[in-house]
Amino acid sequence: MIDLQLTDKTHDEARQGEALVIEPPRSRNGRKLYIESYGCQMNFADSEIVASILFDQGFETTGDYQEADVVFINTCSIRENAEQRVRNRLSQFGAVKRRNPKLIVGVLGCMAERLKSKFLEEEKLVDVVVGPDAYRDLPQLIGQVEEGQKAINVLLSREETYADISPVRLNGNGITAFISIMRGCDNMCSFCVVPFTRGRERSRDPESVVAEARELVSQGYKEVTLLGQNVDSYKWNGIVNFAQLLEMVALVSPDLRVRFSTSHPKDITDEVLYTIARHDNICNYIHLPVQSGNTRILELMNRTYTREWYMNRIDAIRTIIPDCAISTDIIAGFCTETEEEHQDTLSMMDYVRYDYGFMFCYSERPGTLAARKLTDDVPEEVKKRRLSEILVKQQESSLFRLQQFVGKTVRVLVEGPSKKSEKDLCGRNDQNAMVVFPATDGIEAGQYVYVQVDRCTSATLLGTALI
Ligand code: 5AD
Ligand code: SF4
Repeated sequence: MIDLQLTDKTHDEARQGEALVIEPPRSRNGRKLYIESYGCQMNFADSEIVASILFDQGFETTGDYQEADVVFINTCSIRENAEQRVRNRLSQFGAVKRRNPKLIVGVLGCMAERLKSKFLEEEKLVDVVVGPDAYRDLPQLIGQVEEGQKAINVLLSREETYADISPVRLNGNGITAFISIMRGCDNMCSFCVVPFTRGRERSRDPESVVAEARELVSQGYKEVTLLGQNVDSYKWNGIVNFAQLLEMVALVSPDLRVRFSTSHPKDITDEVLYTIARHDNICNYIHLPVQSGNTRILELMNRTYTREWYMNRIDAIRTIIPDCAISTDIIAGFCTETEEEHQDTLSMMDYVRYDYGFMFCYSERPGTLAARKLTDDVPEEVKKRRLSEILVKQQESSLFRLQQFVGKTVRVLVEGPSKKSEKDLCGRNDQNAMVVFPATDGIEAGQYVYVQVDRCTSATLLGTALI
């Protein structure tokens, strides 16, 4: 099984196993937490909640698991290979634990929720298993382990949003941050394990979202990404909808960029599109996963929209926000998918010409509707071949989209040195394109600069800052 995705390194499994570190605070108890996160942005945001809860218990974080008292791994279950990576990592932590039996090893997040107590039986060196809604219980669970017991809490909640917990921003650049606006998912896409691992959908109090955005602005942050499994179904007390929340956050500061993810094609409204169009600081970028371009497959996936409906939403975006970037997720080789149906996905890609894409081979997940009702009958080689055709098309499309910026000037929020060279700076434009340009005196991370774009690759715009 291979997973391939292009361009946006912050999405889904593109971010794997990053250790998160905060500066040691003033009065600590000397205990050290090492936390590593896998999977989606929501998981990374959750690790910041976990760090905050343990910070209150006197823990400081470390980037070196060898010196930690507690090692947590915040896991993802979305595809089988994501779980395999976590298991490999756990066996490395297990080796450290053999040398230092006092080390507490914990599994958090989706995989903890999926496997529950089975984890403690399968992975003997794991001490604590905690699902995504039980992080407030961590201090108590750690105490239990210190008394020599194994500890587990995988209860899902209908209310928990961690609204009152101020996340400790981990390993961030001090410029861009995530804000969770809701948790869980009530859609029952047949391929997806998330409704089982993250539970029922619940929205967070808009006042607490706005307060968090304000606090970030006061700390010098310049961009927030509002996170939810399906942001368009955000609803607070039956009154505030996602478009209204988006506007409330946009009004916090004209200098604060607002992004959001993920939108669902069945739910994204024109009201949301008009709100984006109305506010300069709401970025013109929508992640609108199509999954498949064929109506029969969409029905089997239980996506509750047709090919035509999706195209209509794309048309609405193009009309209301003409320069909006659009990205997608696509699954290759879903149950019973024929060659013609795969061609429908390719032709959908031609229709939309996505700016970015995240593409995966279908991976059956135990307990899902598809695992129970459908046959995973597309041979692995066929899935891989279809995936590579999708990938090639996306690469062409990304290049096409980025070429539109060549010769133009784009406004970039500088995030810091580029990954490849300290001599270059990088940041994103409004449409989420990564822009790299030579560092110049007077330009610092956190500033907005105009960059004249000279050329591009299929993933990056290259140019010179105008000062
Ligand atoms: N197999 C492959 N890809 C999957 N995704 C979710 N579940 C599966 C699965 N069982 C993909 C979808 C989703 C993205 C986050 O991961 O495309 O949008
Ligand atoms: Fe995130 Fe989904 Fe993976 Fe859970 S299963 S970590 S919600 S991508």
